[in-house]
Amino acid sequence: MTSNLLTGTGLTMRFGGVVALNSVDLVLDVGDHLGLIGPNGSGKTTLLNVLSGVYLATSGSIRMDDVELVRRRAGERSRRGIVRTFQHPQMAASLTLHENVQAGERLGRHRRTTSHGHGTRSRELLELFGCADYGHLLPREAPYGAVKLAEVARAAAAEPRLLLLDEPAAGLSAEERTELVAALRRYRDERPDLALCLVEHDVSLVSAVCDRLLVLNAGTMIAEGDPESVLADTQVRDAYLGPTEPAGAGASELKGSR
Ligand SMILES: Nc1ncnc2c1ncn2[C@@H]1O[C@H](COP(=O)(O)OP(=O)(O)OP(=O)(O)O)[C@@H](O)[C@H]1O
Ligand SMILES: [Mg+2]
Repeated sequence: MTSNLLTGTGLTMRFGGVVALNSVDLVLDVGDHLGLIGPNGSGKTTLLNVLSGVYLATSGSIRMDDVELVRRRAGERSRRGIVRTFQHPQMAASLTLHENVQAGERLGRHRRTTSHGHGTRSRELLELFGCADYGHLLPREAPYGAVKLAEVARAAAAEPRLLLLDEPAAGLSAEERTELVAALRRYRDERPDLALCLVEHDVSLVSAVCDRLLVLNAGTMIAEGDPESVLADTQVRDAYLGPTEPAGAGASELKGSR
């Protein structure tokens, strides 16, 4: 049985004349693993920004725990358990990767549902996400992949109720991507109370972690459902490949332009 965690209704974000999000509705239940896909510029990052409070939506509603969050700032939303990573990692430059993850752990201390004592969880998550060897380095000293993975570990350490990941696999090696998928699956299974929203261009990676997909195109939601039916949807295929593409191309070929 699932219970509703967050309901977004009519979420719209305009930047001058650009409508980056156009009346998007979305419901996230406890235990949901939602993959958010769509071509470049379709509004995926904007949706995460609007949900996390980095941007205040032009209009619409975000309800969580019977509280309207749409005008609330990012700090309050993170205290309520909405935690995210960024497409381009945003780690504290003066802290090591391990200290960054510890900072995440402090943020989530009051929400802690696991039995891990303070300090041990961050080490465990660095190991789970495959970046423990670089934990002693500052972000600028560590390889890009390790910084990306440590940012996911930092978000996980905050014990989010809703975890928003913006292209966590972008820039990772094939080996790091495999490690990320395994780690996300383990983390997800360990936290049945978690709702996850994963933005990623690689559809096979999203489908390995998520059981539901939501597709944006030019700021509008064009499909939602299980990966197989969404990827077979003509509107989705047209959005990625153009309407002239012959039928029958494999679903895993749907990729962003990067
Ligand atoms: N701060 C901003 N100011 C002006 N326009 C913006 C801003 N942020 C996003 N946009 C515009 O909103 C649209 C959606 O951008 P967004 O970054 O959400 O797309 P995306 O789906 O995350 O793309 P990508 O796959 O390339 O990361 C684009 O047209 C973008 O130029
Ligand atoms: Mg983006």
